[in-house]
Amino acid sequence: MTKHPRKIIIDTDPGQDDAVAILLALASPEDIDVLGVVAVAGNVPLPLTQRNARIVCELAGKPETRVFAGSDAPLQRPLVTAEYVHGKTGLDGPQLADPVMPLQDQHGVDFIIETLRREPAHSVTLCPLGPLTNIARAMQQAPDIIPRIQQIVLMGGAYFEVGNVTPAAEFNIYVDPQAADIVFKSGVSIVVMPLDVTHKVLTNRQRIEAFRALGTEPGRMVAEWTDFFERFDMQKYGSEGAPLHDPCVIAYLIDPSLFQGRHVNVEIETQSELTMGMTVADWWGVTNRPANALFIKDVDADRFFALLTDRIGRL
Ligand code: BDR
Ligand code: CA
Repeated sequence: MTKHPRKIIIDTDPGQDDAVAILLALASPEDIDVLGVVAVAGNVPLPLTQRNARIVCELAGKPETRVFAGSDAPLQRPLVTAEYVHGKTGLDGPQLADPVMPLQDQHGVDFIIETLRREPAHSVTLCPLGPLTNIARAMQQAPDIIPRIQQIVLMGGAYFEVGNVTPAAEFNIYVDPQAADIVFKSGVSIVVMPLDVTHKVLTNRQRIEAFRALGTEPGRMVAEWTDFFERFDMQKYGSEGAPLHDPCVIAYLIDPSLFQGRHVNVEIETQSELTMGMTVADWWGVTNRPANALFIKDVDADRFFALLTDRIGRL
């Protein structure tokens, strides 16, 4: 039987780790068909995330990829950004030229709605790598699309690792907790890549040098991005290297056997300022709340990096 590539929309706020995730997807056409890339405000403001998304598509040699600008601010709260992690441009590290490929005219939220209405039901997977603003807005504006979504595979949240931007919350969920709440209550099948798993896919010298040794422009860029990106986590956590958060989403689509988790209930804190954006995951099954997400906790990091390096090498 011929395997059909899985149709996805990447919703993203690049970000070095977002950039690696986009490269991984574009390097894997036999597994993944990227219908479009939608930018959202997050790590840096929207004018930079949409620009960065186009830079990455050009770097992949896929300037025909359709890139859209979505929401420039969270649903209710002021935008919180993370230049202290990703640098002023969001993609600090190597020198990058301005992209030539166009930004699509259509608003990113309208693209998500139109695509889900056009494609057969249950044939499109959403891959959010940043705050969930665009996805929630699409669900609010067009509730008819909700039962048409095949799956949402997202990076966000944490349970055992708790928070990275506040003591209680992970960045993507913290930036737009109201949006996350809408998505987690939507009833769509959700796979979550929380910090609990992404903190297990750490770069180290050998892994970064393997990217550089590919001898290609994308390989060199990935090495330089991760070189830049790892200084923050090494200082903060004393860890070996940088967590490649967002590529976990794409790696899961390519080879879910790399990951292990549990179907649990996940609720989003939206009331308390102290714990705003916390992902309250019922890992131990102590409530009767129904499971609404596959919450991933473990990964085979060596196989993950082998897959990532091999695929980046194809670009
Ligand atoms: C998430 O926040 C961003 O800084 C990263 O790109 C990732 O999506 C990790 O908390
Ligand atoms: Ca991101």
